[in-house]
Amino acid sequence: MIERQICAKIVFCALEELPEIEKLLIERAKSASVNAYAPYSHFLVGAAVLLENGEIITGNNQENAAYPSGTCAERTAMFYANANYSDVPVTTLAVAAQNAGGFLKDPIAPCGSCRQVLLETEQRYGKKLRVLLYGTSEIAILETVKDLLPLSFGVEALKA
Ligand code: THU
Repeated sequence: MIERQICAKIVFCALEELPEIEKLLIERAKSASVNAYAPYSHFLVGAAVLLENGEIITGNNQENAAYPSGTCAERTAMFYANANYSDVPVTTLAVAAQNAGGFLKDPIAPCGSCRQVLLETEQRYGKKLRVLLYGTSEIAILETVKDLLPLSFGVEALKA
């Protein structure tokens, strides 16, 4: 038997410590959460995607009476970006979430399906995708989606 440690690096910081463009990205994710369609969970999530050409794409969660038919904010934004700017790499994603009590204190953690979709985007463009997870007390920064999904199933498995 052999034990292996797979490390994930997560940096925590205050909003003021981020560069202006990332503060803006978080602001856009927060604004996008306001327009979420979440009549069932009342959990409003916003995502903002920064493209290499400087454009920002936003999205939010879209729920459905048939629950599994809904989708998360991250995928709404990412699929729009990938569909409409297919040649433009995605550099950074910011996510923010609020409930009845306001924006969450702790950084929002994307669900497993979104992590998988983010990994595909990172691998598709061959560039690290930086992830900013907003919380009012602190922001979590991951330099790559690999840190969100350390033991991942990706394109390399299909080529093995
Ligand atoms: N949700 C997101 O949009 N992103 C996340 O990172 C976590 C969960 C949505 C899905 C659903 O509409 C609601 O939040 C409650 O799970």
